[in-house]
Amino acid sequence: MIAFELNGEKVTWEGDPNMPLLWYVRDELNLTGSKFGCGVAMCGACTMHLNGAPIRSCSTPIAAANGGSITTIEGLTSEASKAIQTAWQKLDVVQCGYCQSGQVMSATALLEKNKSPSNEDIDMAMQGNVCRCATYQRIRAAIHEAADSLAKEVS
Ligand code: FES
Ligand code: FES
Repeated sequence: MIAFELNGEKVTWEGDPNMPLLWYVRDELNLTGSKFGCGVAMCGACTMHLNGAPIRSCSTPIAAANGGSITTIEGLTSEASKAIQTAWQKLDVVQCGYCQSGQVMSATALLEKNKSPSNEDIDMAMQGNVCRCATYQRIRAAIHEAADSLAKEVS
């Protein structure tokens, strides 16, 4: 049996350990915030956090979560995640929206580790998240905005 925490709740799975984590979250738990895009770890639409680090859940077997902690977009609670979501709204980042759950997850993971990311840090952290609407400039600006707002809260 595979057991782990998902958004703070204990969950178990007794089926195929090689099933992609995304299938479990979307089809078994009905949490549809994480999107299916490419299915081969190339677009980032399915990004979740495993023990705080971004993963591509379309290509991560559910067994990889065993004993760990998974966070989806529905379970974000950190200060960094709130700052990211506020900045996303303020700068009106979203266009069609399909990639944005994954973008927010990767941006949050970055800001939780690095409170003051440079453009290069942002480009590195976000390079696996593809946006067909090309919102990249606004994404970068929103991450800076979120970092600035967190810095103001601390000072
Ligand atoms: S759907 Fe997982 S990376 Fe594209
Ligand atoms: S907002 Fe449309 S794919 Fe990114």
